[in-house]
Amino acid sequence: MTILVTGGAGFIGGNFVLDWLASSSEKVINVDKLTYAGNLETLKSIQGNPAHLFVKVDIGDRAAISELLREHQPRAVVNFAAESHVDRSIEGPGEFIQTNVVGTFNLLESVRGYWDGLGDEARLAFRFLHVSTDEVYGSLSPTDEPFKETNPYEPNSPYSASKAASDHLVRAWHHTYGLPVVTTNCSNNYGPYHFPEKLIPLVILNAIAGKPLPIYGDGQQVRDWLYVKDHCSAIRAVLDGGRLGETYNVGGWNEKPNLEVVKTICAILDELKPRIDGRSYAGQIAFVKDRPGHDRRYAIDARKLEKDLGWKPAETFETGIRKTVSWYLENTAWTANVQSGAYLQWVEKNYAGRNS
Ligand code: NAD
Ligand code: DAU
Repeated sequence: MTILVTGGAGFIGGNFVLDWLASSSEKVINVDKLTYAGNLETLKSIQGNPAHLFVKVDIGDRAAISELLREHQPRAVVNFAAESHVDRSIEGPGEFIQTNVVGTFNLLESVRGYWDGLGDEARLAFRFLHVSTDEVYGSLSPTDEPFKETNPYEPNSPYSASKAASDHLVRAWHHTYGLPVVTTNCSNNYGPYHFPEKLIPLVILNAIAGKPLPIYGDGQQVRDWLYVKDHCSAIRAVLDGGRLGETYNVGGWNEKPNLEVVKTICAILDELKPRIDGRSYAGQIAFVKDRPGHDRRYAIDARKLEKDLGWKPAETFETGIRKTVSWYLENTAWTANVQSGAYLQWVEKNYAGRNS
């Protein structure tokens, strides 16, 4: 048996592939375009593993994807591939429309062609799992209930609008063509192999490099944080038992304001790798100009996933963030590699003009 994963050289896709191969002998075809966010270093430990085949392909390349499906006959496709960073979507939305909307459309068409040609048993067993985000639901006020699967879509950034569009395409391919799909909408992930354009890895690496820790606006925006391996286990649960055509919210019950997250990281670093001058890393916090259209609060009600499929996160924020900080301190080769080249240009561009 085989599954095909897209975006498996990225943060969550990479963790998913590593976890999958650690607990299963089922083959993984890993399709990734290797954008700036794709990183083969993440997959180093499975190099040469015959159960893993990496292929550099764009999800929008219908001919190449169709050929891979025909050749490897996967029983499922898990779609992680996307442009994923909100700030980049504000700076240049075009790539987000291209990959997240047009790319998902092309992928769905390749998969539909493949699925149509399968025998009855394989058609029944096949799954297309689309990995999406809680950002499609928009922004909550402090007193609103957490997002349920029934909340209306109200995306506010080019990124979340492009993901919302892809979710709608996936839904339509189920209702119109019968494609056996399931969708997950997850909150903010953190953990190993996270590209340091995102808040948590950026703050850890800036802190130990003695650089400012940029907090957008007042730092009181709230996110729900989920350790990446818990997201991976949720995806496996939905792949195994999710009801066709349904969506499942995934979250960690860990709502935190950004400033609290950053102060927690500083406190852990103060303990694990104290600054030479004995002061706290919190002294490096710098309030900078806010993100345009910055969503104030996300919160996830993950009870459907818990009730229907018995999924629960294994980590609290406190255990997960400590593991994460330790991972970044221990994996200096990965972090040095990822912080070179084009990454530096992005940091320069995003933070220039944001000075407090
Ligand atoms: P990421 O940016 O770290 O990785 C994305 C991967 O997709 C990269 O390896 C990249 O090379 C690849 N990719 C991009 N465009 C492609 C294309 N056209 N064809 C093939 N590959 C392509 O993203 P991530 O944080 O790992 O997120 C993975 C998925 O999970 C995304 O769909 C994202 O929307 C969703 N998600 C992310 C989070 C989060 O907190 N990071 C939370 C919820 C949902
Ligand atoms: O909610 C799920 C989403 O979480 C995913 O769909 C996205 O792919 C993922 O990138 C993430 O989006 P966010 O915009 O919430 O993540 P980011 O790490 O970019 O920012 C987290 C919060 O921290 C957000 O409120 C913005 C703030 N922030 C971010 C950066 C990079 C700062 O205050 N300073 C920063 O330098």
